[in-house]
Amino acid sequence: MRFYPLLAFVASASTAAIPDVEAQANGGSSSPSCKADNREIAISKAAFLKAKVIPPRPSQYNDKVNVIPSFNPDATIAIDYNGKQVEYGTKFQTTETTLQPNVVFTAESDLRYADYNYTVIIADPDALSPAGTTPGPLLKNYLHWIYYDAKPCLERKQQPSAKDQPMYAAPTPPSPQAHRYTFLVYRQPKGVYTPPNPATFPQTLGASRGMFDVNGYVKAGRLEGPVAGNYFLEAAPVGGGS
Ligand SMILES: *[C@@H]1O[C@H](CO)[C@@H](O)[C@H](O)[C@H]1NC(C)=O
Repeated sequence: MRFYPLLAFVASASTAAIPDVEAQANGGSSSPSCKADNREIAISKAAFLKAKVIPPRPSQYNDKVNVIPSFNPDATIAIDYNGKQVEYGTKFQTTETTLQPNVVFTAESDLRYADYNYTVIIADPDALSPAGTTPGPLLKNYLHWIYYDAKPCLERKQQPSAKDQPMYAAPTPPSPQAHRYTFLVYRQPKGVYTPPNPATFPQTLGASRGMFDVNGYVKAGRLEGPVAGNYFLEAAPVGGGS
């Protein structure tokens, strides 16, 4: 199955992809049942660069702006909120993202999908407001959701799970400038995995979901990647906000 076009894939994921995946999980074929299109992978990398989720070069990493130092994707992640797709900068209203989205990501091109589990992180690097505005990203990153032991090609439907750590928290951007809500997919070490406690990875002490150190968490969990990513934009409601 091809991942492009994204809409068609998501529409069929819940029916077509799942039987394939389960057949392989029971020791079937070594080729993944869903793979990203190279073009779609290139689009995701270009989008992260353009949105400054990554710097042009890892050595140029700017802790106020960038989320991760580098991004070499080998998969793609499709996200939808009640059918509205997240596609590299899609604008959402706060009322559209109250409930957690449906999520599915592809297998990596060279890996047997059944050999690894993945962790999905959703963070806002622009809390309270983007760099260059007032008050600025004082709470970068604001952690919206982590779930672990996720499998490629299996759509994560809109329901809580015991593998949520923490559970999804709806965006409530206080600034009129849009925030980049960034989705990152990391490969976990093989086998039974105990994730780090995200509360122990704030950049400074005292914050709950604010100031989450994505890169520190990734290192502590011995996660690899991100292998896939996406983001959407959301600002305070017009006439509302802080
Ligand atoms: C995936 O996670 C499950 C549940 O923790 C674990 O039993 C299994 O070994 C993991 N699979 C791989 C390939 O790491």
